[in-house]
Amino acid sequence: MQDINEQLEQKRAAARMGGGQKRIDAQHAKGKLTARERIEVLLDEGTFEEWDMFVEHRCTDFGMEDNKIPGDGVVTGYGMINGRLVFVFSQDFTVYGGALSETHAEKICKIMDQAMKVGAPVIGLNDSGGARIQEGVASLGGYADVFQRNVMASGVVPQISMIMGPSAGGAVYSPALTDFIFMVKDTSYMFVTGPEVVKTVTHEEVTAEELGGALTHTTKSGVADMAFENDVEALLMLRRLYNYLPLNNREKAPVRPSGDPSGRMDMSLDTLVPENANKAYDMKELIVKTVDDGDFFELQPDYAKNILIGFARMEGQTVGIVANQPLVLAGCLDIKSSIKAARFVRFCDAFNIPVITFVDVPGFMPGTSQEFGGIIKHGAK
Ligand code: HXC
Repeated sequence: MQDINEQLEQKRAAARMGGGQKRIDAQHAKGKLTARERIEVLLDEGTFEEWDMFVEHRCTDFGMEDNKIPGDGVVTGYGMINGRLVFVFSQDFTVYGGALSETHAEKICKIMDQAMKVGAPVIGLNDSGGARIQEGVASLGGYADVFQRNVMASGVVPQISMIMGPSAGGAVYSPALTDFIFMVKDTSYMFVTGPEVVKTVTHEEVTAEELGGALTHTTKSGVADMAFENDVEALLMLRRLYNYLPLNNREKAPVRPSGDPSGRMDMSLDTLVPENANKAYDMKELIVKTVDDGDFFELQPDYAKNILIGFARMEGQTVGIVANQPLVLAGCLDIKSSIKAARFVRFCDAFNIPVITFVDVPGFMPGTSQEFGGIIKHGAK
């Protein structure tokens, strides 16, 4: 019996080492945590229950049968964030660059199925070179299975993606189907085709960072909701966001009683909105002074700044905030701000989160670029 226990412990130790010390050191040298370290920061201490630690790939091409690493490049399981259940997968870049194999996908699908069954959110920590090249079409089939679950879970349990390394090709679509995408500055990027393919097809020269880095996706494309300085900050902010969300579409978001009295008066609000309609003011100040404890978790703060969206609490209850921002483009509604707000309202609607709107808008942005871009449809949302 002792022998078996020792063998088991050896197997566990091997799985914990992922792709080996050299690759772990390389991961650290890039300023990145390993897949397991990330889970430790994200979850309440000691709550992580791992599943499928010893799963190995089934590929027999290209000598892969002699090259198996327990866990197959993704750590999966469940745990708690501030005492509330969450399912997690964390891709391990030290194992084949976190590339997705058939079995890697099966592990992700298993926790997603269970999350939908018990009604708990799914958080994906993405760090992956895309489809596992050696597996070819089996890997692509794995992606299809994950995407299908993303669709089935949409509006049923919250899904959050944290991009913490490369996310290229097939690896971008699952995050795109989830409710929120966050990135880590300088170490993460997302694109459908990389700089080399872009150069060949369109003759444009662009770096990976320019094409799909955190700055690009938080300011230009609006693909990402926010970017953080490093892995630790990103994971701690994810814990904060989690507190605002219900576990599923049949439960209420948790109420966090605050010492901020509901009858609190703030006389500065009397003068914040100028009498002259042509004068701008900062709507964010108004929001912060209205909600509990001045705590506003803003999403997409650097994209379509003419509209503000995010979570806050009123009398302890989660609310979604949607507000025009007169400081930018006089608060006009354009295509980007319409898409930004509509997607957020859709999330709040699906999860029964009340929305508070602060309206101060001169109207839609006029112009051919807006009309040609379909402002009629986007604005209507
Ligand atoms: C298998 C992979 C891999 C992959 C990386 N590795 N990507 N193994 N399949 N897709 C392995 C490398 O061989 C290497 O192994 C280790 O991971 C680390 O990779 P490096 O290249 O050394 O790291 P880095 O320089 O940081 O570059 C990371 C990278 C690059 C930019 C992700 O590895 C890369 O371009 N990979 C290929 C990306 C790709 O073409 N993916 C498929 C997309 S097609 P060793 O043993 O040396 O440590 C796709 C279609 C989906 O996804 C369609 C869905 C519908």
